[in-house]
Amino acid sequence: MNGAKKIVLGVTGGVAAYKAPELARLLKKGGLDVQVVMTRAAERFVAPLALRCVTGNAVLTADWDAQTDPYDHLFVTRGASAALIAPATANFLAKMAHGAADDLLTTTILAARCPVYVAPSMNPAMLNNPAVRENIRILEKRGINVVPPEVGEMADGEFGEGRLPSIEYLASLMMKAAGVAGDLAGRRVLVTAGPTVEPIDAARFISNRSSGKMGAALAGAARDRGADVTLIHGPVTARLPEGVRRVSVRTAVEMLDAVTSRFSDCDMLIMAAAVADFRPARPSAGKIKKGDQSPTLALEPNPDILEAVAKIKGGRVVVGFAAETENLIKNGRDKMAAKNMDVICVNDVGGEDSGFDSDYNEVTILCRGEEPLPLRRADKPSVANRILDVAVKFLSAPVA
Ligand code: CTP
Repeated sequence: MNGAKKIVLGVTGGVAAYKAPELARLLKKGGLDVQVVMTRAAERFVAPLALRCVTGNAVLTADWDAQTDPYDHLFVTRGASAALIAPATANFLAKMAHGAADDLLTTTILAARCPVYVAPSMNPAMLNNPAVRENIRILEKRGINVVPPEVGEMADGEFGEGRLPSIEYLASLMMKAAGVAGDLAGRRVLVTAGPTVEPIDAARFISNRSSGKMGAALAGAARDRGADVTLIHGPVTARLPEGVRRVSVRTAVEMLDAVTSRFSDCDMLIMAAAVADFRPARPSAGKIKKGDQSPTLALEPNPDILEAVAKIKGGRVVVGFAAETENLIKNGRDKMAAKNMDVICVNDVGGEDSGFDSDYNEVTILCRGEEPLPLRRADKPSVANRILDVAVKFLSAPVA
């Protein structure tokens, strides 16, 4: 074909097979030539025609005709940068671990000379069965790259470990394996997420409303675009992405230390955290007892993290957020100038299902020298990618 790097995508018969066409489309969009091999069980979940349409290549299925092309299993991975089995069922892992070769996909993988990745995806009880765990260990010992399944809600409604990682993440692994760089490859990105908590006494604190979902989405999106990501987060309810370095903090002062000690080594800082502006002036080490009188809580200001890094910004890109209910553009621009940011995402917290704890967000992106970019309400991973599309333009050329 056209010189594009080749990836073999093996699809086996798990529920997550329905994500395979979207994954194949992302790989193709990333400039890769995608050759799909499906098992018979996979065909019951997703039509080969769908995969043919998105890849532009004939799909090799279990009905492959050995008479026509007896060496297909040897040729499929020839010249491929990597092979990825996603989803990989318990049955397929067992066959792979024991060298079974009873269909085109198992024989293809046995004959593979390229790096092989498997993304197991199944119900948590199946995943935790000792037989499955043992098979995964066997594969890892043999140098197969096992992509850990994520924790979350299964198609059957059960919650636990066993979900297929995001297709964006899987695509980014294949892009890396093929040596195709995302637009944040080689960049170090610091992201903050969630609230900070400021102790009143041993049992009580004041905090801000924040689930950490927007910061988690930004960290995941930056990772998928090739960045080396550090996520500094307060106590969050959001599921945090795999494949990023996590630093857990509680107070604004701890977050300030975590950010400033890493800032000089980063290319971009994204402050999505809802930092508490004030903290109790005299936190009590023990628990304050109920007395006859209502206690008065004296507060003092917390340090402003963006203001602190503004002084040592240099060529680093700084992205901040602002929660506003009115005069979005004017207030956003003022805040951006005051804290020396390159990009600010103004969050309309007046909307109904937008912002706090929602899976959706509605922001207007403001940046130096550009017209405001209002985004439609969208899921947080999509919003994260639009923000990064703008932020990457402010990165200086990488040092050779
Ligand atoms: N921020 C920070 N340190 C603080 C408080 C906020 O770095 N102590 C960051 C936030 O992470 C966010 C931006 O600054 O990126 C928001 O600025 P802020 O002025 O706190 O915005 P609002 O909370 O919208 O402020 P105000 O209540 O004054 O409107």
